[in-house]
Amino acid sequence: MKSKETVISMSKICKSFPMEMGGQQQVLFDVSFDINVGEFVAIMGPSGSGKSTCMNIIGALDTATSGRYELYGRDVTNLTPDELALVRNEYIGFVFQQFNLLAKRSVLDNVMLPLMYRGLPYSERVRRAREMLVRVGLEKFESYLPNQLSGGMKQRVAIARALAGNPKLILADEPTGALDSKMGNEILKFFKQLNKEMGITIVMITHEFDIAKYADRLIHIRDGRINYDGKIPRDERKL
Ligand SMILES: Nc1ncnc2c1ncn2[C@@H]1O[C@H](COP(=O)(O)OP(=O)(O)O)[C@@H](O)[C@H]1O
Ligand SMILES: [Mg+2]
Repeated sequence: MKSKETVISMSKICKSFPMEMGGQQQVLFDVSFDINVGEFVAIMGPSGSGKSTCMNIIGALDTATSGRYELYGRDVTNLTPDELALVRNEYIGFVFQQFNLLAKRSVLDNVMLPLMYRGLPYSERVRRAREMLVRVGLEKFESYLPNQLSGGMKQRVAIARALAGNPKLILADEPTGALDSKMGNEILKFFKQLNKEMGITIVMITHEFDIAKYADRLIHIRDGRINYDGKIPRDERKL
């Protein structure tokens, strides 16, 4: 059992996928790191290096082939799909590159989504979702549909949705990948603010050093192995 301050603890995580022609393709090799409460960490690596595979394990969307993974001191390694879903809903707010909003539901409905399984009365869910929309500056847009908003606004709705469940951890996979650089910077500054002012732990996946620089710590993956874990280096060529 790790200390309470540890959010994510990965120990010698390996992941293999079965190949169509038979045999296995190993994608992660003995990946180990701890992430503590309040950290803002970027996981960076070239395309195909295993970032999304790693994020799926962190996010309890998939399980490792071997190794041990603890989330908030709780062993997630051998949970059933239903148990994984509960862990996700309780601990993690997800932000994806393509926003993943429900196109036919209002902004408010989208933000209320993670509260559905919390046993809260409808009025309480509405109140909390509105509070989150104020936080991302979109309170005037609650009855809009996602496709009436700009990309940056959609990502802010997604962040409000991630925050609504009061997560201990925000997990963002290429969160600015679908945005122009101005909107992308706004989203990154907002993450920084959430991290510094609210102490929310953030793990952000990216293939770009200029985006990783917004974090305080960089874990660099190459070919499924960690080859750097530490402060943001001054120069990408150090990786
Ligand atoms: N579900 C899967 N089945 C088989 N191979 C996979 C699966 N997911 C990922 N891979 C393989 O694992 C490697 C790493 O992929 P991924 O984790 O998506 O990398 P990244 O996110 O860094 O681009 C790739 O070679 C990819 O083809
Ligand atoms: Mg990926």
